[in-house]
Amino acid sequence: MLYRKWGSKEDKVVTYTSSSREDVRILDKVKQVMKAHVIELFLSGNITKDEARKLLQGINSFTRIDPSYEDVHEALEDHLIKTAGEAGGSIGLGRSRNDHVATALRLEMREELLALLEQLLDFRGMILKRAEENLGTPFVVYTHFQPAQPTSFGHYLLYVEEEVASRWSSIYRTLDLVNRSPLGSGAIVGSSVNLNRDRESTLLGFKEVLVNTISATSSRADLISSVMEVVNLMLALSRIVEDMILLSSKFVGILELPDTHVSTSSLMPQKRNAVTMEVFRARVSRVLGDLMSIASTYKSLPSGYNLDLQEVNPLLWEVLDETRTGVEVLHDLLTKVRVKEFKMDKEILSTDEAEILSGKGIRYRDAYFTVAKAVREGKFSPTITPEQSVSRKAVKGSPSPERMREGISLARERLNGDANLLREYKNWILKGEGELRLMENDILQEGN
Ligand code: ARG
Repeated sequence: MLYRKWGSKEDKVVTYTSSSREDVRILDKVKQVMKAHVIELFLSGNITKDEARKLLQGINSFTRIDPSYEDVHEALEDHLIKTAGEAGGSIGLGRSRNDHVATALRLEMREELLALLEQLLDFRGMILKRAEENLGTPFVVYTHFQPAQPTSFGHYLLYVEEEVASRWSSIYRTLDLVNRSPLGSGAIVGSSVNLNRDRESTLLGFKEVLVNTISATSSRADLISSVMEVVNLMLALSRIVEDMILLSSKFVGILELPDTHVSTSSLMPQKRNAVTMEVFRARVSRVLGDLMSIASTYKSLPSGYNLDLQEVNPLLWEVLDETRTGVEVLHDLLTKVRVKEFKMDKEILSTDEAEILSGKGIRYRDAYFTVAKAVREGKFSPTITPEQSVSRKAVKGSPSPERMREGISLARERLNGDANLLREYKNWILKGEGELRLMENDILQEGN
């Protein structure tokens, strides 16, 4: 304990409010933020180079958060006081845990989002490859979970890609909001210390400063935007996951899931249960619950920092972690899933027959009723095959081979564009982080 002078380490009250265990997640980011603070204290003339060196060495030797501290910030400051001598006492200048945690959270979220976006690019690439291979693989799609019309498995896969690509863009758009620096904003109104917030922002590779100090220290809305978009991705994926369960069930029997994704029953030897997808389905509920917990903790909190915000942190990471592992599992399944040979119910060609009739000059509604009657009376007999049905589909985004090739090439262009965006973003951040490393090395070398 450093800040409070009452109670003891073992006091339930101290352990109840401590975030030390959860803070392990942001330990590296907290150290990075503290380095930027130390460098800025030096550059702005508040500490000497020698003091800065001792402090940077102290930060580098900090590896473990003792759970008796209130949090990583208290533990780190105490460590610096113990290891850097006199200089340790300067670390509190112009700084609060409020601006430091807000900065570390944004750095962690930025890293997580970049990793997720990278992973989704791989996922999309794999899907496009499989779509190309399955351009002519017969498949059925459903509305109201009743067989609707024939298509190809490639067409279904392009749907999966389009869903993920759209969510990719919406997650990417939240990056710029997250990538703003709260550092230097103190507890809530900044300080009288001459810290250069723009320089601190550059040192950490942020795009810009989050200006107002009340926003900077207490807002989590940008982080929540990212999490909402990530959960939205999970909602989209949950529908694909559900398709995998239903379409591989004996009742439908179109898909064969890879062996590693199914398990059997300890009692019923014939069972092939889609267990990874079942767990995925439940985990989506869990991240939705996390989002609800985050939102309801955040709602109506008075402006400015409140310790409730600390309880939000681990929920953010749970959403990101579950999404990353979920995407990995679904990636593996979709790499290997196979469409079985199956008999297509001829009635799913009814719409085609009505379209064919209307092409012969009969109004569509009349053609529709003619076909409906034949179906009702059990006399329906299609004049084309499911393959012909698919190749007749003319509108953009349809499953005919020409439209599929067009869809794949559009999707590829978009994927390449997104990959470029991500590469540029990463390079930009690396440049900023590089500046911190250069400054750090310069200061550390001086003393040797
Ligand atoms: N551990 C806190 C968090 O993670 C940061 C500390 C703010 N504490 C305070 N008493 N102002 O949000």
